[in-house]
Amino acid sequence: MIIQPVNSLKGKINIPGDKSISHRAIMFGALAKGTTKITGFLMGEDCLSTIRCFRQMGIEITINKTLVIVEGKGLYGLKKPEQDLYVGNSGTTLRLMSGILAPQNFDCVLTGDDSILKRPMKRILEPLTKMGANIVSVNKNDKAPLKITGSKLNNMTYYSQIASAQVKSCILLASLYTNGETKIVEPVLSRNHTEIMLDNFGGNITTNDTTIICNPVNELYARDVTIPGDISSAAFFIVAGLITKGSELIIENVGINPTRDGIIRVLKNMNGNIELLNKRDYNGELVADIYVKSSKLHGTIVDKELIPSLIDEIPIIAVAASCAEGKTIIKDAAELKVKESNRIETMVSELKKMNVNITSTDDGMIISNSPNIIGSKVMSYDDHRVAMSLAIAGLVATGETKINNSNCINISFPGFFDLIQSIKN
Ligand code: S3P
Repeated sequence: MIIQPVNSLKGKINIPGDKSISHRAIMFGALAKGTTKITGFLMGEDCLSTIRCFRQMGIEITINKTLVIVEGKGLYGLKKPEQDLYVGNSGTTLRLMSGILAPQNFDCVLTGDDSILKRPMKRILEPLTKMGANIVSVNKNDKAPLKITGSKLNNMTYYSQIASAQVKSCILLASLYTNGETKIVEPVLSRNHTEIMLDNFGGNITTNDTTIICNPVNELYARDVTIPGDISSAAFFIVAGLITKGSELIIENVGINPTRDGIIRVLKNMNGNIELLNKRDYNGELVADIYVKSSKLHGTIVDKELIPSLIDEIPIIAVAASCAEGKTIIKDAAELKVKESNRIETMVSELKKMNVNITSTDDGMIISNSPNIIGSKVMSYDDHRVAMSLAIAGLVATGETKINNSNCINISFPGFFDLIQSIKN
């Protein structure tokens, strides 16, 4: 991908559907009785991996543009896949599906691409094993491929060491197949889309701050789902609108669930001119249109409590920080090391190539104002969010930015490049 600097960005845009909610809509649709109609589904590669896996287990799923129809067969309706389940690059598919598969009455193997085979799975192996699951790392390295032998599971109380929605959701899905109450306590509340959707589909779930209590039910019932635009994708355009001169954008129909809106809070705190318009609710998920105007940003500190609500947005926050007065410190974010790439290393090395003042720390990065960002040849490390963050940096650089392996952007944001072109002035 080649990015040229722009003068300004202007227009009204829509961004693709929320990745986390799209995955969950397929999963709950498959496990519910009846037909689930999903509108605004993200046709990114990760979510298509989830569809492929459920089709392999006998679930009929039809796709018509961004309308997806899932013929659910109930909690006990999945059939043994004939081949290994391949999740591609999708950690969400792998970790959440493990919770669904551990209590089935069949065996299977979950595997994926090179990046997924490097990501830590102990975080799900440990709680699932505690519930009685028979799930092992085939290469005995606590990573995928994972071999699951379906078993009867028990309820449990679990104090999670990390604020991870994938871990929490994995346990919640497994808990549907137990005999009693499962309680999960998180250190900081992670994204709560599973809780919201489980409640909508007829689950028995209550939450109090960072404690989630789930009781099994006999059945889940199909429910239509409207998926808002993904705030993690909107984030690239919010930052682009703030750091390019003379820009004004409206990003319509974006999910602003309070467990995901850390990016808005941080950018406003950096003096970003952002307004949330037409706030509304889709099946318990808060949605708004986001107005953004060029702003003179200043540095900030991003830490602890905020991190889970913006974990996927830290690469683009680093780009915003490079255009802000003063210094920005991002800390308590060691989780970045185990995302699609080690995002501390990859963002620091690539932004340095673009003449950004950035250094890595053990658990984050420090970025200082960088008045002379230079278009350069940079690498995505096959990480979609790294590729898109570098592309936005390229909009305010001098000269051309060339991003290699930019195809990975299709994992979460098909049409990203064309959307930039459509608002360029
Ligand atoms: C996700 C949770 C987050 C996030 C990922 C999607 C989800 O991961 O980084 O992109 O859909 O549950 P963790 O649960 O590992 O923090």
